[in-house]
Amino acid sequence: MIVNPEIERYLDSLLPARDAVLQEMEEQAGKRDIPIIGPAVGRVLAQLVMISKAKRIFELGSAIGYSTIWLARAAGPGAEVHYSDSSPENAREARSYFERAGVAHLVQVHLGDALASLAATTGEFDFIFNDVNKEGYPTVLEAVPARLKPGGLFVTDNTLWHERVLNPRHESDHAVIGFDRKLYESTQFFSTIVPIRDGISISVKLS
Ligand SMILES: C[S@@+](CC[C@H](N)C(=O)[O-])C[C@H]1O[C@@H](n2cnc3c(N)ncnc32)[C@H](O)[C@@H]1O
Repeated sequence: MIVNPEIERYLDSLLPARDAVLQEMEEQAGKRDIPIIGPAVGRVLAQLVMISKAKRIFELGSAIGYSTIWLARAAGPGAEVHYSDSSPENAREARSYFERAGVAHLVQVHLGDALASLAATTGEFDFIFNDVNKEGYPTVLEAVPARLKPGGLFVTDNTLWHERVLNPRHESDHAVIGFDRKLYESTQFFSTIVPIRDGISISVKLS
């Protein structure tokens, strides 16, 4: 818990019920330990997509597609949302959820390394969401600027990494700290980390 647990519980108590598909995904994630963003962060992603009117979106690390559904629903008709994950089982499950959630026509599924999938696409994106393995964050930060349009948003989950940024011991802890520092120092982005759930960084590409 990054914030006071009572505040976290209070914020969770305000969350409106999700539809049957998202609820089932949340239950599955809980039972099977799938690290999804959850509804509080899902709403932040959706808000950022709505505010920025993003239509062309790439997600790095999508698992069973929970965050993809939040992105696709917020982007709405005409959107092009790219799902990427290295697990064929995850991709199969995600496809079935996309059908049931009514967003399959908006989503393109990429199987394999997320950055290789990004490299295999062409053109600039309005919004890139990063949720891959934490050791991969520094490489993601190198690859993303060239693929975002000016004014585009780059959002990353787990940037406070279960408080491990305060007492780093593992490679993933150091990777997240290095990522956070470079993000704030970057002249290509204007960034803020919002301490909601496990911390999300929100970066605007400046030029
Ligand atoms: C934290 S989960 C993603 C959760 C998802 N964003 C959500 O909130 O619903 C991370 C996922 O990224 C995948 N992954 C991690 N590193 C990856 C990489 N370099 N390339 C492709 N997939 C990766 C893992 O298989 C895992 O399913």
